[in-house]
Amino acid sequence: MVTTDITPIKVQKSNNLRIKELDYNNITFGKLFSDHMFYADFKNNEWSDAQIVPYGPLLMSPATSALHYGQAIFEGMKAYKNEKAEVFLFRPFDNHKRINISAERMAMATIPQEVFMAGLTQLVDLDRDWVPDTDGSSLYIRPFIVATDEFIGVRPSDNYRFYIITSPAGKYYNEPVKVLVETNYIRAVEGGVGYVKASGNYGRSLFPAKLAQQRGYHQIVWTDARNHRYLEESGTMNLMFVIDDVLITPPLGDTILAGITRDSVLTLARDWKMKVQERKISIDEVVDAHKKGTLEDAFGTGTAATIAQIAQIGFEGKDYILPPAEGRIFSNRVAKELIDIRTGKVPDIHNWMYKVG
Ligand SMILES: Cc1ncc(COP(=O)(O)O)c(C=O)c1O
Repeated sequence: MVTTDITPIKVQKSNNLRIKELDYNNITFGKLFSDHMFYADFKNNEWSDAQIVPYGPLLMSPATSALHYGQAIFEGMKAYKNEKAEVFLFRPFDNHKRINISAERMAMATIPQEVFMAGLTQLVDLDRDWVPDTDGSSLYIRPFIVATDEFIGVRPSDNYRFYIITSPAGKYYNEPVKVLVETNYIRAVEGGVGYVKASGNYGRSLFPAKLAQQRGYHQIVWTDARNHRYLEESGTMNLMFVIDDVLITPPLGDTILAGITRDSVLTLARDWKMKVQERKISIDEVVDAHKKGTLEDAFGTGTAATIAQIAQIGFEGKDYILPPAEGRIFSNRVAKELIDIRTGKVPDIHNWMYKVG
């Protein structure tokens, strides 16, 4: 029987608060971390020793198994502040479900909802001054689980630690992105781990992404591993296209992460009675639509970037320029709607916002 009650969480407050280092108008993604962090340990088959402590370095054995065989998974989510200075998490239960899907696939300990939510809400509540309220800003939250056995044999660890750290975030991209369709390297294969947030998925993506960046692109568009024809994801975003007024996105499967922003965008599009198709979409179809003038919009969706409009698609030595970002109807409307829901300016009819404190 796994213990689900880890409260009361032991809290050790920092006596060196760094909030004054935060310049609300000039936030670089992922660089500055809030004053506290949360962790809990999985040992003897249960979660215990939940603590909030000052943010700081970890002390660990060089034989810690996560460092060697990649039993390491994470989540990415955000907290927002509304005009009344209330703090809300966006769809936290979905991140909880997803971290457990990742844990199962990586043969790691899953985490009970009570442990995940207790750590998350208490930590964000304690560091609520770190949630920025300037336009387009939020507190990025990084829950992660790592294998902690001091053992370098290859087998699933018996012990794990669940951490949460948080970091104020402004805009991820400052301009519409240029993407390159990748036809050599692959991110995910059928039967693999592309559908989970395993650290190794990101490590393997960096070299091809670096090559694309050297050629002036922001990101890669990954294609299917068999034929390199069907579009899958881009960086840490799901992909969407509007062709002839139809919103098209690749279907979920074992090579694509089930993005929470993706689901939110599809839900809003359906609310607005837009025609939505979750189906395979090839680069040939996109190039063809571009030629015919029916490619109206293309963008990535993800927690960090929210909606990143695509300005240009590179494929086989040619660059396809998309319509100006400001004039696009769907991506601008959905980006605004998501901000308005998150900051309480429009009703939250889908109950996506979860109040902290
Ligand atoms: C590979 C990948 N695809 C898509 C996404 C978008 O998912 P979400 O909207 O839940 O952030 C992410 C980010 O978490 C990602 O890492």
